[in-house]
Amino acid sequence: MIEILPNKLFAAITGIGGYIPQNKRSNEDLEKLVDTSNEWIVKRTGIKERRILDQDLATSDMAVRAIQNLIQKYNKNLADVDALIVATSTPDMPMPATANIIAQKLGMTNVWAFDMNAACSGFLYALDMGASLVETGRYKNVLIVGADNISTYVDVYDRSTNILFGDGAGVVWLEPSNEGGIMDAYLRSNGDGREYLHIEGGGTQYPMSDDNNNALEKRYLKQDGKTVFKHAVQSMTDACQTVLKRNNLTINDVNWLVPHQANQRIIDAVGRALDIPEGRALSNIEYLGNTIAATIPLCIWENIKQIKTGDLVMLTAFGAGFSWGASLFKWMI
Ligand code: COA
Repeated sequence: MIEILPNKLFAAITGIGGYIPQNKRSNEDLEKLVDTSNEWIVKRTGIKERRILDQDLATSDMAVRAIQNLIQKYNKNLADVDALIVATSTPDMPMPATANIIAQKLGMTNVWAFDMNAACSGFLYALDMGASLVETGRYKNVLIVGADNISTYVDVYDRSTNILFGDGAGVVWLEPSNEGGIMDAYLRSNGDGREYLHIEGGGTQYPMSDDNNNALEKRYLKQDGKTVFKHAVQSMTDACQTVLKRNNLTINDVNWLVPHQANQRIIDAVGRALDIPEGRALSNIEYLGNTIAATIPLCIWENIKQIKTGDLVMLTAFGAGFSWGASLFKWMI
């Protein structure tokens, strides 16, 4: 059991919201674009469809809707928010931060707001940053958003990536608690992995300009699927085992594992490696695909009815960088 020190201040999740765009891109749609089949995609990834944001909307629009969803459901007041952290690899624009745009759209004119990019591990990174702010006692209400409009960077004619990715946004509200909340987080990165998963164009290395064909060629997400797959399984498993071990827990103490939703076969392989009991590794990849920083909050949001007060939940993620990690929290809602 986890030993709780007297007077320890935790950051507890006290609200959760999500938004998924209306437009669906099904496997049948992809069959019309590239040489693939519904059967192959389902067998190799577990994905049947993904959601695609309208072209006239941006990452901030999804995040705003996710936050509005949270506010309504949990009766929160945006005026109470001290800090807004947005995990995204697909900001609306290079500057200002998407967090500032979201804050402006929601009328939050006096909030500390910033973005952080750790690709598919972004939500875990941001959650730990937000929890650390709350644990200091100086911040009382912190919003953690994971939002990505990754379809903008996916070449619909590339069957090695178009099958996997979709758009979405999720958000949690953090508040101080003496009884429990975020218990631990283990986060890592290793830039040696960057060649296997990246979007190279559009930054300062390959700036997007009218005559820069190099950047145009590099504007889409590229990956070495097999290498990413192998590292994802190993890194998420190791991170979960590290967190379990240093908290004197076994996988049987964990009520729910929420892995990053990259591929159902990755989720299953991590579950097997950890030997988690059947049905405790949550998944919603079938109808959303990989929504990058949004997968974890969206997966919790969609499975909210199963999670009970006091349940121990383990999150784990892996993404570009490579970046990866695991975190553990007690569900306090
Ligand atoms: N439809 C039909 N066939 C396809 C295909 C598709 N979309 N994509 C690849 N193939 C073919 C290949 O050409 C290959 O054919 P061959 O055996 O005749 O050479 C065969 O299917 C196997 O391809 P392979 O690339 O080895 O498949 P895979 O089992 O590794 O699955 C991924 C490919 C991309 C689904 C898988 O590697 C993956 O999910 N990797 C992790 C990616 C990821 O999660 N990225 C984000 C991390 S946050």
